[in-house]
Amino acid sequence: MQIVSSVAAMQRLAKKWQRAGIKIGFVPTMGYLHAGHLSLVREARQRVGKNGKVVVSIYVNPTQFAPTEDLSKYPRDLKRDLKLCRAEGADVVFTPSDAEMYLGRKNPQSAIRNPQSFSTYVVEEKLSRPMEGASRPTHFRGVTTVVAKLFNIVLPDVSVFGQKDFQQAGVIQHMVADLNFPVKIIVAPTLREKDGLAMSSRNKYLDAEQRAQAVILFHALQAAKAAVQKKSVSAARLKTDLQKFITAAPLAKLDYVEFFDPETLAPVAQVKRGTQMALAVFFGKTRLIDNAKL
Ligand code: PAF
Repeated sequence: MQIVSSVAAMQRLAKKWQRAGIKIGFVPTMGYLHAGHLSLVREARQRVGKNGKVVVSIYVNPTQFAPTEDLSKYPRDLKRDLKLCRAEGADVVFTPSDAEMYLGRKNPQSAIRNPQSFSTYVVEEKLSRPMEGASRPTHFRGVTTVVAKLFNIVLPDVSVFGQKDFQQAGVIQHMVADLNFPVKIIVAPTLREKDGLAMSSRNKYLDAEQRAQAVILFHALQAAKAAVQKKSVSAARLKTDLQKFITAAPLAKLDYVEFFDPETLAPVAQVKRGTQMALAVFFGKTRLIDNAKL
């Protein structure tokens, strides 16, 4: 497995593979990998086959964090991540620095002193507005910008994203269609802990009590599923019920719960089987998200 940290070297490698007709599968991550990420790497391998190349990027992207969110505390363990990627059969791990990604290589020092030096962003203007976009207004701009950059560097034929970030996957699919990126986006299922909590690098922030109560997100999804199995229910009513349901976990503070069309993300007034539900819940400063088709 190769470890590449320069943009130019990664692009050179990807172009060489492209010229040789080798398919490239790509899994963008922010590292601190767990079984969920590794299932995305396996999916990428399946898609490109044994003759293809699988690239995993590990990059904690500063532009998707608001100034109020603690970028410096995001969990990191590159040594462990590299071991996991090697064991999973990745061909390349791309680990660029901020200087490589945002400031250009010529004179990163002067660029760091001049924050205006990076000034081009990619903004999806529809699907990125509600839910995560409403709670974290600059988040998706950072995600679409870095993913567009990564696609231009890694030149993937296929890129795999997790269903846990349902809205993110939708925003990326829109960006790819709108801007004609020649890449197929695969959305792979959420992996869960034994009690149902969706796997996430952020689970590491939870203390024992918060961790025990965090399963309330999964239980809320199940409760909503049960409520709409036989009849449709008003979204307003179900939101109120779930709000109460979530307070059963005293450390949980609901950020949002939404019911929406899985394609357009447009909110629905009546919730029925097949409606998509997403929620975000704070445990202290840690914000967890989850979603499901009801
Ligand atoms: O889902 C993530 O980990 C990040 O948002 C991504 C897609 C790697 C972009 O930084």
